[in-house]
Amino acid sequence: MFEILVKKSLPSTNTYAKKLAGDGKNAVVVALTQTRGRGRNGKKWFSPKGGLWFSVILRPKSPNLIQAIASLAVLRSIKKLGLKPKIKWPNDVYINGRKISGVLSESSFSGKLDYVVVGIGINANFALKMLPKELRKASTTLADEGVFIGTMELLDLVLLEIKRLLKEKKSNVIREWGKNSLNEVLLNGERLSVCGLTKEGYLIVKDAENKKKIVTEGDIVPT
Ligand code: BTN
Repeated sequence: MFEILVKKSLPSTNTYAKKLAGDGKNAVVVALTQTRGRGRNGKKWFSPKGGLWFSVILRPKSPNLIQAIASLAVLRSIKKLGLKPKIKWPNDVYINGRKISGVLSESSFSGKLDYVVVGIGINANFALKMLPKELRKASTTLADEGVFIGTMELLDLVLLEIKRLLKEKKSNVIREWGKNSLNEVLLNGERLSVCGLTKEGYLIVKDAENKKKIVTEGDIVPT
């Protein structure tokens, strides 16, 4: 299903994949390092050698649960390595309160959805000290968790789970996401309990007065 292109270095696999997708191609683009890796909300994504940095071109009918699917695919793969990951909405994967993976999904519409480029970064085989100092406290890597898996083997695991999850019923994706999410988060300093996902992929939370809210954007922080 996926043609895999492996490049030594790219500015960003998402930018490269978006160009391919715009030209009507379908592929998975992997880079051993990225010089201008992009995170959500315009943030820089540090991409040293040893990490798994890749983008998948998908052409689903709707982009709604694609981010949930991507984070669940990473979560399932990391669980297979014996670790205990959790998801933080919208699509970060954490181990013991530290981020190990993030997803940047970018869609193109022209009347209908043309494509979604799902960019996934997993801090795999490099030491935390390769990241800038200010990121180290809140991040972890597979190497720092004492796990080793070749990046291409890890890629195979994640792609297999993406394929499986794309075939799942939406209700199953939402249920599995809920079971694996952090139970409590902070949004603008407010402590909220996580109830689950809407069918669009928004976050359902409850505040201290048990009032339900739907979060569509914003920076959710683990408690
Ligand atoms: C985030 O948590 O802010 C999202 C990070 C997404 C990083 C990946 S690495 C592969 C792909 N290429 C990019 O430039 N970004 C994504």
